[in-house]
Amino acid sequence: METAEIRRRFVAHFERHGHTVVPSASLLLDDPNLLFVNAGMVPFKPYFLGQETPKWDRATSVQKCVRTLDIEEVGKTTRHGTFFQMCGNFSFGDYFKEGAIRFAWSLVTGSVDDGGFGFDPEKIWVTVLPSDDEAKQLWHEVAGLPFERIQERGLEDNYWNMGVPGPGGPCSEIYVDRGPAYGPDGGPNADEDRFLEIWNLVFMQESLSQVRSKADFDVEGPLPAKNIDTGMGLERVAYLLQGKENLYEIDEVFPVIERAAELSGRKYGADPADDVRFRVVADHVRSALMLISDGVTPGNEARGYVLRRLLRRAIRSMRLLGYDGPALRELLPVSRDRMKLSYPEVETGFDRISRVAYAEEDAFAKTLLAGTQLFDRAADEVRSTGRAQLSGAQAFTLHDTYGFPIDLTLEMASEAGLGVDEQGFRGLMAEQRERAKADAKAKKGQHADTGVYRGILDAHGPTDWLAYETLQTESRVLAVLSGGAGVPALGAGEVGEVVLDRTPFYAES
Ligand code: GLY
Repeated sequence: METAEIRRRFVAHFERHGHTVVPSASLLLDDPNLLFVNAGMVPFKPYFLGQETPKWDRATSVQKCVRTLDIEEVGKTTRHGTFFQMCGNFSFGDYFKEGAIRFAWSLVTGSVDDGGFGFDPEKIWVTVLPSDDEAKQLWHEVAGLPFERIQERGLEDNYWNMGVPGPGGPCSEIYVDRGPAYGPDGGPNADEDRFLEIWNLVFMQESLSQVRSKADFDVEGPLPAKNIDTGMGLERVAYLLQGKENLYEIDEVFPVIERAAELSGRKYGADPADDVRFRVVADHVRSALMLISDGVTPGNEARGYVLRRLLRRAIRSMRLLGYDGPALRELLPVSRDRMKLSYPEVETGFDRISRVAYAEEDAFAKTLLAGTQLFDRAADEVRSTGRAQLSGAQAFTLHDTYGFPIDLTLEMASEAGLGVDEQGFRGLMAEQRERAKADAKAKKGQHADTGVYRGILDAHGPTDWLAYETLQTESRVLAVLSGGAGVPALGAGEVGEVVLDRTPFYAES
């Protein structure tokens, strides 16, 4: 069953049962605690918390989500995608546990002819919070599940919160048994690869004031009403219903892998290391497409940095697969053609989306070129001195100045028959992190006195900014600052700011 059909069935099922269909919110929904929308319930948070009156008692949506905390896991497991779609049904003080279980069960196990997903009821397992006897009893009565297939799991798995203060509650997860070829028997408590979670039903009933981890949080009190928030992973259901091994092989994602294989001349499925790269490419290209479509541009901080990282990891993975050409120009249109079926805006906005992505690829290509030259010089020097490995300092310079990720340096070194002092590299990285932390702490302690700049502005007028005209100017120094205050001069080795009467320098964002 195509992904678009699964989402259509989900929405139709809940619409038939009195839910209003709400379109996906932007990935950049304004929530100060979240970089990106990371669950279907995020746009409904004010309703759960009682801050706004819900417009409906029941709603359903398929929400675009991005989670990048596990970015290193992408491609290595069957389940980690940075962009995914969460199908959800929501009750705002209307139905509660019984309704949620009934609706989910009838869709999951309903026959394909009747609009369901047609999963074999014998293959379904669920988990509940140990104290939640009510949910256990309901699964038994409403769905007819034998108690052996209703397992208990602690707060870590069966209490849902946003990871930040907000609504939360006990939850119950639905798993599909993929069969003995995928792992040992014994239900989700024994193996989460064989027993794949597809849907989480949250019995949203509490407000949390502090969230330290999944299982460590402070409950502020009950919510104004008992609510339902559910999240079904569209990609997970798709790969099960399409008989695929993982989410990278579904109809919305796999065409990018196929194109990447054509471009690189390597085969998907032939080498485990290459397969991870293919999956990283497919996942990241899609996530980048969706993020740029929602207005993110590459940068060095926050959302922009996540996007930059996704784009560069995709490009780098293509190079590691042996393809040096402009990868995004080949792959982004393939992803667009799959995603436009559900998100027409990726086609109508493709001019802008592609301009942003290709500019980043061109900039990264220059970085790679400069870094590769530096790498070649470093490798020559290592060889000429009879050593067998690049020093930690050389690897660090490549990373710090040229944006070379360490795995690229490792790969290039190994191709050149050399090693890398990884430990030395990691030591220098740790030192840099310490410096950055100390710097951030020092900055936090200071209150920037913008009055200094105001004084310079009043005395001299604004800086004449020539970035679009020239790369070089003769300029006059109008003021010198150190630690946020004007000083007569800076000595050698001191760090400070220089205000010029005119400049070609470009301040990013
Ligand atoms: N809010 C339910 C989930 O993300 O699983």
